Amino acid sequence: MLDVKKIQKDFAILQQLVNDEPLVYLDNAATTQKPQAVLDVLMDYYHTDNANVHRGVHTLAERATKNYEISREKLCQFLNARSTKEILFTRGTTTGLNWVAQFAREILKPGDQVLVSIMEHHSNLIPWQEVCRTTGAELVYAYLKDGQLDMDDFKSKLTAKTKFVSLAQISNVLGCINPIKEIARLSHQVGAYLVVDGAQSAPHMKVDVQDLDCDFFTLSGHKMLSPTGIGVLYGKEEILNRISPIEFGGEMIDFVYEQEASWKELPWKFEAGTPNIAGSIALGAAVDYLNNLGLENIHAHEQDLVAYVLPKLQAIEGLTIYGPQDPVQRAGVIAFNLEGLHPHDVATALDYEGVAVRAGHHCAQPLINHLGIHSAVRASFYIYNSKEDCDKLVDAILKAKEFFNGTF
Ligand code: ALA
Repeated sequence: MLDVKKIQKDFAILQQLVNDEPLVYLDNAATTQKPQAVLDVLMDYYHTDNANVHRGVHTLAERATKNYEISREKLCQFLNARSTKEILFTRGTTTGLNWVAQFAREILKPGDQVLVSIMEHHSNLIPWQEVCRTTGAELVYAYLKDGQLDMDDFKSKLTAKTKFVSLAQISNVLGCINPIKEIARLSHQVGAYLVVDGAQSAPHMKVDVQDLDCDFFTLSGHKMLSPTGIGVLYGKEEILNRISPIEFGGEMIDFVYEQEASWKELPWKFEAGTPNIAGSIALGAAVDYLNNLGLENIHAHEQDLVAYVLPKLQAIEGLTIYGPQDPVQRAGVIAFNLEGLHPHDVATALDYEGVAVRAGHHCAQPLINHLGIHSAVRASFYIYNSKEDCDKLVDAILKAKEFFNGTF
């Protein structure tokens, strides 16, 4: 189990009062806080090593390049990829999914299908909508049963027409964990590629891309203790070798002539322009931090928090929780509504108590529509959250309920 009190000391930002109350940060699905160890690595890079990568032969350039590539090795081990050739640095999950969709554009023809689920984040929907619109392929949705993916519906929609399946491993609204390994097996049976949006899973549970056997996997650094603007797209080497570069320019080329050019080998053929060097190195430091805690321990800690708080939330009259009702089937994301109250009012009332949550459509409007609501409040947990934070959330919800019910 995690030593939460010790972990909290690594996050100076958490040691503040918000509206005269100690900050309880429960907006981790949107972005996580960054520990001192990651901030130190970020600052050290600019203080001592700042130079461009894969270009210079001077000492700073060699140091920056070495640390950039060491970070790639850390991410390779973190995801258990076969080789660093399979680890592409991106701006984040959205970029990764756009790159895969760009690849799909070369493959999809009228009559082909892309299968997603109704719980997908916009970043895993809109690139597919655009690709389907321009290729004549069809975007097909699998729906829900008991607050999670309806596997029977999924299977019935997975056919020989399906060329890509693209799913979140963990929903950023429902908190459910999708059975990606089984989904990979089923997808490959019909000859489809499986793309996994790992933005909400990679920071919270052990991901082994070889064991999952997914073809692509994306993550965002800022949701796992790192700065914004850095992420990873994993792709199987034999597939990446077949894909043309998505972006063109400096750094990704081998030779350039007046009318044509040739590309570097993997992974660099995908990394045009000066990359986010500092962010990549900081992401490597975040991976070190997470590995020290142990991904299994992190997952167990969050499941423990959910098992503790879910029954308390379920007991609040007028509170509806979305997603599976059994804590065992959930990750540390709980979206809910309070009867008669607007989610933004609830989130504002919680903020008065120092509790930071997100309210809105959570970048998943088709899901929100499917649930028959306009928006929801969402609490999401991470390594520095404690059972006291859960109690504070419940107390703040009860206070909000009392306040609004007394007022209106
Ligand atoms: N994807 C982020 C969230 O769910 C922004 O809040």
